[in-house]
Amino acid sequence: MPEEKKKVTISVIKADIGSLAGHHVVHPDTMAAASRVLAEAKSKGIINDYYVTNVGDDLELIMTHYKGVDSPEIHEVAWNAFKEAAKVAKELGLYAAGQDLLTEAFSGNVRGLGPGVAEMEFVERPAEPVVVFMADKTEPGAFNLPLFRIFADPFNTAGLVIDPRLHNGFKFEIYDVFEGKYVEMSAPEELYDILALIGTPARFVIRRVYRKHDNEIAAVVSVERLNLIAGRYVGKDDPVMIVRAQSGFPALGEVLEPFAFPHLVAGWMRGSHWGPLMPVSQRNARCTRFDGPPRVVALGFNIKNGKLVGPADLFDDPAFDETRRVAQQIADYVRRHGPFMPHRLGPEEMEYTTLPQVLEKLKDRFKEARLYEVKGPKVRTGLLETHE
Ligand code: F6R
Ligand code: MG
Ligand code: MG
Repeated sequence: MPEEKKKVTISVIKADIGSLAGHHVVHPDTMAAASRVLAEAKSKGIINDYYVTNVGDDLELIMTHYKGVDSPEIHEVAWNAFKEAAKVAKELGLYAAGQDLLTEAFSGNVRGLGPGVAEMEFVERPAEPVVVFMADKTEPGAFNLPLFRIFADPFNTAGLVIDPRLHNGFKFEIYDVFEGKYVEMSAPEELYDILALIGTPARFVIRRVYRKHDNEIAAVVSVERLNLIAGRYVGKDDPVMIVRAQSGFPALGEVLEPFAFPHLVAGWMRGSHWGPLMPVSQRNARCTRFDGPPRVVALGFNIKNGKLVGPADLFDDPAFDETRRVAQQIADYVRRHGPFMPHRLGPEEMEYTTLPQVLEKLKDRFKEARLYEVKGPKVRTGLLETHE
C-alpha cells in the first residue's frame, strides 16, 4: 500500500492582549514576546514555522505544524505566546492588557477562552498558495459576502464557469452562532437558500468551504463570538480566515477580488456601528478614525515542506487605492448619521448600550399613548389600542 502523504496544518490564532494608545495598534514589544515563545516551540520541533503580525489591536499568530487541527500542544503554544505578550502589555501599561484571555488556566484548547482560531489540514500540493485574511473592528460574518463571491459567484470567479476543476462548485458549512448548530449546503444548487442564511451575518457565519468533488478544504474562518462566550461584552471577535488558491481553487486574483468592494460590516466603534471594510497594507493596519474604519489585511504565503514562504502584503497595491477612497467616502457618509441607525447597530446587536438605564429613568414619565382608535370592542396590542 502506498504510504499516506503527511498532512500539514496551518493555524491562525489571534487575540487582543492590549494595545498602544487605545484599541489602536499592537505594541512591537508584545509581538517580540509572542515571537520568542513561537521560536522556542519551533526549535523544539512542536511547530515547523511561524509568522507573527498584527492588524489593529489584534496580535496574530500564523503557524504551520504536523499536529492537526485542535491540537492541545499547538493551542498551548499559542496560549503561552499570548500570556507572555500580555505580561509585557501589563508592564508597559498598554490599554486593555490581557483583555481576550478570559481565564487564568489553560485546559487543552483555546476555543471558548477568548482567542479566535482558524485552522486547516491538507496534503501539501507541489505549490501550495494560501491567503491569510485578518480583520479588525468587525465580526466573523464579515467574511460571508466575500466567501460567497469567491466560491459561488461566477461574476467574481471566472473559474467556476471555465475551469473544469471548479465547475462542480463548493460546499459551505454555515454556523448558527446563536443556537450552536451548523448546516452543510451546496453551491450552485442551493444558492438562494445559502443567501437566505448568510445575509444575516451576525447569526449565520460561513465557517468552512470544501471543494465538492473531492471534499478538499478550501477555506476556514474563526467563528468565536466573544460577547456570547463571556455572556457580556469583553472585546470584539475580530475574525481571521485562511483561503487556499490556484490550481483547482479560485485564482489568487479571484480570492482578492471581492475586497475591491468595501462592503458594510458590523463592529466599528464600541462594536456597535456599521462601517465599510477597508482593505489595507500591513503598515496601515492601525485603527484611528472613530477607532476604524474596519480594516482587513491579506497576507499571501506558499507552504513548502511544512514551512511558510512569504508573506506578500497583498492589499499593498494601487489596484486597491480606489476601494480605499470609496471606503473613505462611505465612512464620511455613514458617520454623519452619528448615533442614528443604520450607522449604529440595532439594539439587540450592540455591545454597549445605555437604553435600559434610560428607560428605567423615564419609566414614570411615560404616559399611555392611544395611537389610533376605531369603533368596536377594545383589542390591546402593545402600545396600540384599537376597536373593531
Ligand atoms: C475595541 C473597539 C473600540 C472600543 C472603544 C471603547 O476593539 O473596537 O472601539 O470599543 O475604544 O473602548 P473602552 O470601553 O475600552 O474605552
Ligand atoms: Mg480591542
Ligand atoms: Mg481588535
